Amino acid sequence: MAPLWYTASSALLLSVTAAAWPYSTYKSIDFQPPTLQINQTGPTDPGFIFLGPRGGVQPAGQAALIYDNAGNLVYEGPEEVTSNFMVQKLNGSDVITFWAGDMMDIGYGYGTVHILDSTYQEIHTVTLTGNFVTPDNSTKTSYIDLHESNITPNNTLLVTAYNVTQHDLTSIGGTSSEWMLDSHFYEIDIATNEIVNSWSALDHEDDIPLTSSHQKLGGTAGTQENPYDAYHINAITPTNNGHLVSLRHMWSGYYLSENGSVMWQVSGENGADFTQVGNANFSWQHDIRVWNETDEGMILTLFNNANTPTDNESPTTGVSLAIDLVNKTVTGLRSLSDNNDPIHSVSQGSYQVLNEQDGHVFMDYGSISKVKEFDGAGNVVFSGKFGTDNAVASYRGYRFPWSAVPFWKPSLNVTRTSTGATVYMSWNGATDYDTWAVYSASSANSTNNQQIATGKRTGFETAINVTNLTTDYIQVAALQGNNVLGTSDITSF
Ligand SMILES: *[C@@H]1O[C@H](CO)[C@@H](O)[C@H](O)[C@H]1NC(C)=O
Ligand SMILES: *[C@@H]1O[C@H](CO)[C@@H](O)[C@H](O)[C@H]1NC(C)=O
Ligand SMILES: *[C@@H]1O[C@H](CO)[C@@H](O)[C@H](O)[C@H]1NC(C)=O
Ligand SMILES: *[C@@H]1O[C@H](CO)[C@@H](O)[C@H](O)[C@H]1NC(C)=O
Ligand SMILES: *[C@@H]1O[C@H](CO)[C@@H](O)[C@H](O)[C@H]1NC(C)=O
Ligand SMILES: *[C@@H]1O[C@H](CO)[C@@H](O)[C@H](O)[C@H]1NC(C)=O
Ligand SMILES: *[C@@H]1O[C@H](CO)[C@@H](O)[C@H](O)[C@H]1NC(C)=O
Ligand SMILES: *[C@@H]1O[C@H](CO)[C@@H](O)[C@H](O)[C@H]1NC(C)=O
Ligand SMILES: *[C@@H]1O[C@H](CO)[C@@H](O)[C@H](O)[C@H]1NC(C)=O
Ligand SMILES: *[C@@H]1O[C@H](CO)[C@@H](O)[C@H](O)[C@H]1NC(C)=O
Ligand SMILES: *[C@@H]1O[C@H](CO)[C@@H](O)[C@H](O)[C@H]1NC(C)=O
Ligand SMILES: *[C@@H]1O[C@H](CO)[C@@H](O)[C@H](O)[C@H]1NC(C)=O
Repeated sequence: MAPLWYTASSALLLSVTAAAWPYSTYKSIDFQPPTLQINQTGPTDPGFIFLGPRGGVQPAGQAALIYDNAGNLVYEGPEEVTSNFMVQKLNGSDVITFWAGDMMDIGYGYGTVHILDSTYQEIHTVTLTGNFVTPDNSTKTSYIDLHESNITPNNTLLVTAYNVTQHDLTSIGGTSSEWMLDSHFYEIDIATNEIVNSWSALDHEDDIPLTSSHQKLGGTAGTQENPYDAYHINAITPTNNGHLVSLRHMWSGYYLSENGSVMWQVSGENGADFTQVGNANFSWQHDIRVWNETDEGMILTLFNNANTPTDNESPTTGVSLAIDLVNKTVTGLRSLSDNNDPIHSVSQGSYQVLNEQDGHVFMDYGSISKVKEFDGAGNVVFSGKFGTDNAVASYRGYRFPWSAVPFWKPSLNVTRTSTGATVYMSWNGATDYDTWAVYSASSANSTNNQQIATGKRTGFETAINVTNLTTDYIQVAALQGNNVLGTSDITSF
């Protein structure tokens, strides 16, 4: 029988040209973030929404973005392609982490992981160097792939990397020295950038045979410029005995020992080392995570795409599974989807357990520019949309509590009116202020400025009209109650 000559997936392709999507503008700062449209239908867990839209984000706004539940912008990072924008714990403190770099057309990338403290100062820049081969032989300053940036309790970072290599693909209808992508992961010491652990899927070919890949060899794949992507690593989680790795093109998670050997495999197609009980199917998955691990079993959660550009199966779901290591079963526990809004996400996506007690889950739909929060009963309590489907994507998306006082000052714009001026003010990234105070200053350098107005914060930017101005100098301050958190420069107008 002839092999199926199609390329099923590719994880990050965006197939549609961006149609116009509304965006916000401000007077006090030059940002154009995409509008986050929301429907809130129930109480959500606390926290802001973290997104990294990319693709046709018009006219700007391709950046790490934080929004509140009302859709107000809270933070916009530099214009760049990002992924995994999230809050994690490092050394016991909340930090922001995100990957930024270049994405390749077929769904991997080369970049750097940035770690910022709660003032947005970059405290660590994690890079990976080594003898990697790229499709065009170009060298990169860092070979960290976009798919994972997971801080471990040991202050190390788990990241993925894709290496181009030649391999015998005769078992799947190729030649004896065809070009392919090997899926690697690295554990990197955050303080020193030293590699403390590494793993390669090709080193475990006996346990992860190429013949199991759902990504078929074909088309132009198999050259150095367009290598065949057999595995597609996209998530790594530490476990009690090593790591659990998600290989999207295998429709499987692999439980690895400390030395990287495969201890067991759970497949969304047939269970592999487990008998499936109930609906335990998944395919083309992302973001497998481990919960409540004991020697007898554990819970796995994952984003079940169940679709590719060439494969339209069932709606995408958020899945949790119980692994029973004693009886060797995998049991479907939860399957989350919005019956009023069935989504077919062909690539990317994430499943975030917000709270193990109340059962809330936050999902980002990858190539479909939507996020949803589900409650413990599986009802949708929040939906958000930030772009045109299949044109704008956020690889992952999250909800996190986050408290930040930026190291930069608030910004303002003062525009004259017939009776005085309108003062527009914002403080990018500041989460905790609730009030603005406006001061009239006697000069560009004066320190004993006179408060002439106060007003409640209204979203990202607040406007206050002032009258009776006696000078051309204005300064503003952001307050939490009576406590000044930040003061702007003095502006003349
Ligand atoms: C990469 O370099 C090798 C060795 O010099 C060369 O044989 C190969 O053609 C190069 N590949 C590309 C895509 O430039
Ligand atoms: C942390 O490091 C210790 C000592 O190297 C090791 O035994 C432990 O497994 C590590 N924990 C994680 C979660 O990686
Ligand atoms: C990448 O693959 C090449 C063979 O194509 C190999 O020489 C090199 O060591 C690999 N790089 C890493 C970091 O494993
Ligand atoms: C963690 O904290 C210790 C003690 O303050 C410090 O020496 C170390 O550099 C920190 N590690 C990281 C990764 O920030
Ligand atoms: C790797 O670890 C597994 C599980 O502990 C063990 O069975 C196996 O012998 C080890 N392999 C090597 C090469 O050390
Ligand atoms: C294994 O199955 C037996 C019989 O169905 C059941 O009694 C037992 O609780 C199961 N073990 C676990 C760990 O679930
Ligand atoms: C872990 O177990 C606890 C106690 O049974 C439960 O409340 C929690 O929901 C479980 N976590 C997950 C992710 O299933
Ligand atoms: C909100 O609900 C309306 C009406 O059902 C729907 O048209 C719209 O697409 C929804 N928006 C989001 C972000 O879910
Ligand atoms: C305020 O914004 C207007 C345009 O909206 C611009 O012309 C003016 O230069 C800005 N003023 C300051 C002080 O930035
Ligand atoms: C006042 O500030 C301006 C600009 O910030 C500076 O050039 C000037 O030297 C300052 N004057 C005094 C007296 O400090
Ligand atoms: C400021 O005053 C103008 C009219 O002069 C009015 O149109 C505008 O709504 C006022 N803005 C605020 C924030 O009060
Ligand atoms: C502006 O000045 C007038 C006349 O001195 C005064 O009645 C009014 O209260 C002042 N307005 C403000 C907002 O201070």
